[in-house]
Amino acid sequence: MSVPLPNPVPFDEAVRLLKAGEVCAFPTETVYGLGADATRAEAVLKIYQTKQRPRFNPLIVHCADLDMARAIGVFDPTAEKLADLWPGPLTLLMPLRAEAGISDLVTAGLTSVGLRIPASALARDLIAAVGKPLAAPSANPSGRISPTNAGQVRALFDDGLPVLDGGPCQTGVESTIIAVDGGQVVQLRAGGLPRDLIEDHVGEKIAQAEADSAVRAPGMLKSHYAPRAQLRLNAQSPKAGEGWLGFGAGDQKAEHSRNLSPAGELAEAARNLFAYLHELDAPGVNMIAVAPIPETGLGEAINDRLRRAAAPR
Ligand code: TXA
Ligand code: MG
Repeated sequence: MSVPLPNPVPFDEAVRLLKAGEVCAFPTETVYGLGADATRAEAVLKIYQTKQRPRFNPLIVHCADLDMARAIGVFDPTAEKLADLWPGPLTLLMPLRAEAGISDLVTAGLTSVGLRIPASALARDLIAAVGKPLAAPSANPSGRISPTNAGQVRALFDDGLPVLDGGPCQTGVESTIIAVDGGQVVQLRAGGLPRDLIEDHVGEKIAQAEADSAVRAPGMLKSHYAPRAQLRLNAQSPKAGEGWLGFGAGDQKAEHSRNLSPAGELAEAARNLFAYLHELDAPGVNMIAVAPIPETGLGEAINDRLRRAAAPR
C-alpha cells in the first residue's frame, strides 16, 4: 500500500528530494517553479516529463547568488550591469560556459543559458541548501496558466507533485527575459520587471523581440497560458453568461466576477492575474470578458499574458 504524499512538503524534504535527483515545486516571487538539479540529466528529464513540455523548449537556471551564476554564464559588461537588478524577476540570456556542468537538456542544446536569481528568499535558501543550480519552468502542465500559490500547483497536478509552500507569489507574472548578446540587449518576454525600469538602469532603450519570434525564446508560443474558457479582451462590460475580469473602479454585475485591482494598480493586478484566471476558469464559464488594462509598466506583461490566453488554439 502506498502512503499518501504529505503535501506541501517541509523545507528539508524539498532539499532531500532535489538532492536525490527528484523534482519538487517551489515558490519564487514570480510564479511557482518546477525545480530539479540543473546539472543532472535524469533529474531535468523528469521536469519535461512531468510538464509534458516539448524538449526543444529550454529551461531557466535559478541561482542562489552571483558566484553560482558566474560559474554558469559568460557575463559581458552589459550583463554585469543588468545583474545589478538581481535578485528579482529578471532572466538574462547569455553564452553558456562550456565547463558549467549544466545538462544539455536544460538549454535544449542551445549555446545560450537563461539565468535568474529570484527575489524570494525562500527560493534562494532552497537553492543554497541543495548546493546546485535549479532548472525550473513554471509549475504548470505545458500550455496551462502558471500557478501563483501552492494550492494551484497541487490542483494542476492532482496532488501528484511535491510542493514547498511559500504562500502567494508577490509579483505574480513570470520574469522579464532579456537576451544579452555582444552588447545588444533585446527583451524576449515582458515580465515582472517592467521594461522602463530596466531601460532607466542601463541608460538605453531596449528593443522588443517580434511578437512571434519563436526562434530565440522557443517557449514564447502564441497560444500559451491558456485557461479552458475563451477570453474576450478590452471589453467594456460582460455579456449575459460571461465571466468578468475587471480592472479599476466601476464593478460589473456577472455571476462569476473578479476585479484585478479596484484601485487600478498594475502591481496588484499582476499579483492577482493568474489566480483570478484560475478561479474564473473553474466553474465552467465558457467566456471571460476582460476590462482594458493600460500598456504601461507592468501592464506590458499583463497584456502579453492576456493576449496569449486569448489566442486561438
Ligand atoms: O518567472 C519565471 O521566469 C518562472 C519562474 C519559475 O522562475 N519561470 C518560467 O519558466 O517562466 P518557463 O519555462 O515557463 O519560461 C522560460 C522561457 C521559455 O519561453 C524558454 O523558451 C525561454 O525562457 N528560455 C529559457 N532558456 C532559454 C535559452 N537558453 N534560450 C532561449 N530561450 C530560453
Ligand atoms: Mg511557463
